Amino acid sequence: MIDVLLGLQWGDEGKGKIVDFLASQYNIIARFQGGPNAGHTLYVNGQKVVLHTIPSGVFHTHCTNLIGNGVVIDPVTLQKEINTILPLQSDMLDRLFVSQRAHLIIPTHRALDAASEAAKGNDKIGSTLKGIGPAYMDKTGRNGLRVGDILSKNFTEKYNRLKDKHLAMLKQYDTVVDWQQWEADFFAAVEYMRTLKIVNAEYWLEGQLADGKRVLAEGAQGSMLDIDFGTYPFVTSSNTITAGVCSGLGVAPSRVGEVYGITKAYCTRVGGGPFPTELNDETGEALRKAGNEFGATTGRPRRCGWIDLVALRYAIMLSGVTKLIMTKADVLDSFNPIKAAVAYLVDGKETKELPYDLCDTDVTPIYQSFAGWDQPISACTSYNELPQSFKDYCRFTEQYLGAKIAYVSNGTGRDQLLNIS
Ligand code: GDP
Ligand code: IMO
Ligand code: MG
Repeated sequence: MIDVLLGLQWGDEGKGKIVDFLASQYNIIARFQGGPNAGHTLYVNGQKVVLHTIPSGVFHTHCTNLIGNGVVIDPVTLQKEINTILPLQSDMLDRLFVSQRAHLIIPTHRALDAASEAAKGNDKIGSTLKGIGPAYMDKTGRNGLRVGDILSKNFTEKYNRLKDKHLAMLKQYDTVVDWQQWEADFFAAVEYMRTLKIVNAEYWLEGQLADGKRVLAEGAQGSMLDIDFGTYPFVTSSNTITAGVCSGLGVAPSRVGEVYGITKAYCTRVGGGPFPTELNDETGEALRKAGNEFGATTGRPRRCGWIDLVALRYAIMLSGVTKLIMTKADVLDSFNPIKAAVAYLVDGKETKELPYDLCDTDVTPIYQSFAGWDQPISACTSYNELPQSFKDYCRFTEQYLGAKIAYVSNGTGRDQLLNIS
């Protein structure tokens, strides 16, 4: 079976930490979508590591790591990431596999991302500028370059054809970044990628599953950034929900087992777009400070607000979440009261459904308040030690969402995770 772990909000829910924790139960960790826009933070022997393309099982010697076909890879970022990890985990390359069907991000994809964002002015998505959107556009537009192409002797020709298409597109923009500066590094990194274990991953995975290997699919971004169901157009360009696992790894839906859905105890978003429960006040500022809410990939301050149970319930429905994980509970230690959006007021009517459009629709969240716990919980090591008001907050959340919380994370450390199932 393939279990799935994904973010239920707008990303940065703490997926990296949880995958790193759960990795002891799995033989294979597989990324199925996204690319270097992701920033998954883990602590290895106290040292902070941020992973972008490489699965978060890389620091476990028994774990094999697969970058699936649904991922878009920037060879330069991948090589840099490998060079950061190797001194910490010298056997990592023996355990890293890359699908030949994964698409490549080339320098002009990054230039197009930057130009398209600049042209949008105030309506910009707030893209990470890693070339994600343009690379997925070439994939669905049937122009893309795939990892398998780097093994072909016509690679440079194929690259030039795509680059020329991009150069024609770039002519419509006023500002174009100096992408030529990235080209030499790109070709050097492609040369390096040729030495990696490039596989026909769907057959490889099928063989592993037949051998009884346990697989965890690691999501990137979050459900509200999903290309179909997120707050379009302020989304990323891939399917971040469970459905993306099947197309992003080449596995049948019947293979999917447990689905872990991760939510913060509050909510954040980085980049533009609607965020109904955002707090543009001192409480929001205090959340940012307490949660150290700055992007792992771009360093941008994250927008902060209360947990949005309407959006969460939608995300759980879309992905068939069987186990919830609540992270960053310790961040709420000194907030009193704590609030949760339980409905929206749309056109004077109360609803628990996410409207089709959150950009032009006036949405006012209706909140329920909870007593805070006014004490640090980061040292708690079992459910019983948690304050009653925190337990009440959890019970209400579970009831509203119709899903059980399996773990509560109460700090950045690997061991700060309480099993409460
Ligand atoms: P990801 O993209 O979902 O992997 O999440 P990020 O790594 O981008 O952001 C999550 C941040 O929260 C990281 O800095 C983590 O170290 C941190 N974090 C994860 N879990 C907890 C927690 O329970 N408490 C606190 N205080 N920080 C946490
Ligand atoms: P992880 O995996 C948070 C956001 C960007 C932007 C929008 C589109 O760390 O949770 P893109 O570069 O994909 O074209 O940007 O999506 N975004 C993320 N926000 N966490 C992420 O990944 C994100 N990846 C993309 O900020 O608003
Ligand atoms: Mg992140």
